[in-house]
Amino acid sequence: MTAQVTVVNHSLVQHKLTLMRQADTSTAKFRQLLREVGMLLAYEVTRDLPLKYEKIHTPLTPMVAPMLAPDKKMVIVSILRAGQGLLDGILELIPSARVGHIGLYRDPATHVAIEYYCKLPQDIHQRDVLVVDPMLATGNSSVASIYRIKEANPMSMKFLCLLAAPEGIKNFQEHHPDVAIYTAAIDDKLDQYGYIVPGLGDVGDRLYGTK
Ligand code: URA
Repeated sequence: MTAQVTVVNHSLVQHKLTLMRQADTSTAKFRQLLREVGMLLAYEVTRDLPLKYEKIHTPLTPMVAPMLAPDKKMVIVSILRAGQGLLDGILELIPSARVGHIGLYRDPATHVAIEYYCKLPQDIHQRDVLVVDPMLATGNSSVASIYRIKEANPMSMKFLCLLAAPEGIKNFQEHHPDVAIYTAAIDDKLDQYGYIVPGLGDVGDRLYGTK
């Protein structure tokens, strides 16, 4: 059975995504929005984290109250470089998470993902992994990254992006039917250069002002 694709249609996420799509949104604003959306998407992805009940004391009375189960530890793996924009917001929400990085570049002619960097926490096999990359376009870099992370045998894995193309989802699910996808929207298609349409352009360039 193929894991679910969840479209996070929360009004705040949709509003912020529209601002990010607009070509005249400044670099500073784009960066801020991506951080905020990262936080909101992480809220959705983590909604079913298991809880454990503990006895605590409020100023008025003892009570038994839910807390995150201490053995549910997370690793966020950011696919460089655009993943960093989502990562910042997620870490504000989950500050104790460990962080891994995978660097890939896309061969401009073939769109094949080529790895140039990989650093993952040593205890990743005892943790749940959330892989983050804003654009699930061809899917090649996320597919390659997830194969790489699977070698380290994490307890579970989810994938979080901002925008997905139908082609990218298909490719991803053919390779990793066991990994659930979370996205703020599924756009129409890819263009001949592998960009998502209507999309929002090159996230890395918009995030860092490199174009
Ligand atoms: N990467 C981007 O930054 N934008 C796209 O539209 C596709 C891949």
